[in-house]
Amino acid sequence: MSKAVKQTQPHLDPETFRERLGRWYGESARKLPWRGVNDPYATWLSEVMLQQTRVATVIERYTEFMEKFPTVQTLAAGEESDVLALWSGLGYYRRARMLHKGAQYVVQKLGGVMPRTAAELLALPGVGDYTSAAIASIAFGESVAVLDGNVERVLLRILGEAEDKSGAAKKRLTATAQSLMPLRGDKGRNTAGDHNQAMMELGATICLPRGPLCLQCPVMELCRTRGEHPTAKRETMRQKRVAHLLETRTRHGATEVLLERRAADASLMAGMLELPPLSLDAVDAMEPVVQVKHSITNTNYQVDVFSGKVLRKEIPAAKSALLWVGVKELNEVPITGLARKVLVKVGVLAKR
Ligand code: ADE
Repeated sequence: MSKAVKQTQPHLDPETFRERLGRWYGESARKLPWRGVNDPYATWLSEVMLQQTRVATVIERYTEFMEKFPTVQTLAAGEESDVLALWSGLGYYRRARMLHKGAQYVVQKLGGVMPRTAAELLALPGVGDYTSAAIASIAFGESVAVLDGNVERVLLRILGEAEDKSGAAKKRLTATAQSLMPLRGDKGRNTAGDHNQAMMELGATICLPRGPLCLQCPVMELCRTRGEHPTAKRETMRQKRVAHLLETRTRHGATEVLLERRAADASLMAGMLELPPLSLDAVDAMEPVVQVKHSITNTNYQVDVFSGKVLRKEIPAAKSALLWVGVKELNEVPITGLARKVLVKVGVLAKR
């Protein structure tokens, strides 16, 4: 952008920024099930689910989770396998395990009462800078800024800066985010929680990574960039082909699926149930019954699924890791998102 244009940018006045953002949020905020609930546990759950997962996916799973575990006490008393089953398909299962541990900490160490400040919330297992600031501001009105990927992008563009992954840059952005926050006690739409949610909402719906909708942006006049900003090179996705076995049987009139429990010390999805993996050599030249694509972190998987009793002997797993699960029970056990996807695709499991 040329100097001449930059000089015409009005100063980033926090009050003007807050007022415009707040008005826009009041008019345009998506109606989401965790908004306006006034329950710190609900805020905690929704914010943990929303990290790294799209809002549309979270909506269904949040409601189901709240029905099964409506309070921090019920979650603390729940079985980890039930928690993971409800998390199936959301991915990043460590989040669910840590949330469960966090709930137990609140019940056992804090008498079931959630801390009210970001500083105190940081003591909970699994709660870091983002989650503590989100809970403290949304549930308790503390004037503490959240900085997630969306907010970072919004701020970099407002300031006219290029992406910078350094710790120092993050610190600077946190300070800028904080300088824009309403103070505690601000009334109406300018509450700390609404402001933070408005920043995230702006990043998620207007200030998009590619093709930002600047003409619809409430703070376009305060923005130095008005378009895409220079970004660091993204890590390229790895491509990988994998094979799994799909075997069903009927017992006492009920259909059952053969699943394998992942090792308790596996680095990904430990202890969860999946369709037994097959080596690619074992299925050489065979026709898959179904193929799906699945992405986990930085890998795109081409997943080929095979059926046939002869393949049973090709499963390298120990016998004890294999189990038959009735189709009716599949929603109550912690199956992986990939297993769910395949079982839905072949019509064994209803989409939820
Ligand atoms: N992303 C994560 N949390 C959010 C929230 N509370 N509002 C909008 N987007 C979000």
